Amino acid sequence: MKIAVVGAGYVGLVTGVCFSSLGNEVVCVDKDEEKIARLRGGESPIHEPGLTDLIRRNAGAGWLSFTGDLAEAVRQAELIVLAVGTPSLPSGEADLSYIRQAAVEIGEAMNGYKIVVTKSTVPVGTNEKIKATIASFTSHPFDVVSVPEFLREGSAVIDTFHPDRIVIGADNPAAADAVAELHRELTLNILITDIRSAEMIKYASNAFLATKISFINEIANICEKVGADVTQVALGMGQDRRIGSAFLSAGIGYGGSCFPKDTRALIQIAGNVDYDFKLLKSVVDVNRDQRTGVIRKLEEFTGSLSGRTIAVWGLAFKPNTDDVREAPSLDIVSELIDRGAVVRAYDPIATDNFRRMYDHPLVVWCENALEAAEGADALCLLTEWPEFAETDLGVLRAKMKEPVLFDGRNVFGKEAFALTDFRYYSVGRPHLNRYREASIPL
Ligand code: UDX
Repeated sequence: MKIAVVGAGYVGLVTGVCFSSLGNEVVCVDKDEEKIARLRGGESPIHEPGLTDLIRRNAGAGWLSFTGDLAEAVRQAELIVLAVGTPSLPSGEADLSYIRQAAVEIGEAMNGYKIVVTKSTVPVGTNEKIKATIASFTSHPFDVVSVPEFLREGSAVIDTFHPDRIVIGADNPAAADAVAELHRELTLNILITDIRSAEMIKYASNAFLATKISFINEIANICEKVGADVTQVALGMGQDRRIGSAFLSAGIGYGGSCFPKDTRALIQIAGNVDYDFKLLKSVVDVNRDQRTGVIRKLEEFTGSLSGRTIAVWGLAFKPNTDDVREAPSLDIVSELIDRGAVVRAYDPIATDNFRRMYDHPLVVWCENALEAAEGADALCLLTEWPEFAETDLGVLRAKMKEPVLFDGRNVFGKEAFALTDFRYYSVGRPHLNRYREASIPL
């Protein structure tokens, strides 16, 4: 099939690469000329394991190309994938201006029957608006089909090649079948449904996963108070197949380009039809409070943070990505600075992106984990990069002024501290080497 992918961001680029690997002729379109130039040079604009190799291989074989010319790409294509961004407006609603603009340009360029597949995450009813917009610029027949994308950053290539399911929302069975055929090699688990349900499946899935995270984080907070261990609790819960073990890792909360944006958008979608989505509002509140839990614990230990040196390990919103969008680290580092601390920060690959979002003279940007720990009164681990878990705690101890470690991702097991005097605070697990109150009999 000849495919044009509009928007070479995370979803568009990975989708384009995947479809070209399956033997389709794909052109990725983006307005960002610098991005197109980099892609043409065989360089991926995002850090995603396996992506650069596939870009080079598929482009070299002639299956994948890049252009800024949307009209020409649309004219050549049988199927157009809409994968432009839908960022948050200040109200929480999704900003549909890129979608609208792309729909106008697709409509203007139409020269025959085409299927338009929407992969961007869009509020319920948007695909109907996309259809109306395109129709107002062309008399050629076309279908709009909703195919929400569930890939995760850091494992986007694997997720795209091995999806749990493909959801197809369509009002024309023939178009649905054509799109199903395109995905058949990836999975046989294909759900064909109506467009509005497909749009809702994406928001509901992300909101549910965010709910699981906030739920386990609240359980963690209670565990800390009653002396239970949340990792054991999650293990025991997760073995119930009705619950499942995924997304039950307690920590400093979720970030990234999807969960924060999509939860806010769904609250707004509900609000627009006079429904108060109380549960999801609490999920968002819990997530916000979870981030400041680190600061609260630090202050419990150190008193005022003013003049203290705090090492920060990890800035990306999760490992294997250089993405810092809505990362807990942004709130935590800025709060530390506001409270007068000096921050020594290190991330294996996300520092440059972080500095574009937040920079301050009192943040020392370090080249490695041990350098960040030098002279620190406390260390906060915010992203579970594998290299942190491999640290020799004896060597780390020697670098630090005080042996205080706040593990925001529950990376370390207590046995790791057997030979050290570290005071270790994690999320929802018993603290180590802290004064323990004597048990009071019933
Ligand atoms: C998410 C969805 O998983 C994906 O289906 C959708 O298409 C886009 O949004 P992504 O944001 O890339 O993907 O990352 P994900 O792995 O889902 O993690 C999101 C956030 O939740 C991260 O900050 C992560 O640290 C946090 N998280 C995840 C937890 O705090 N605990 C968990 O158990 C799982």
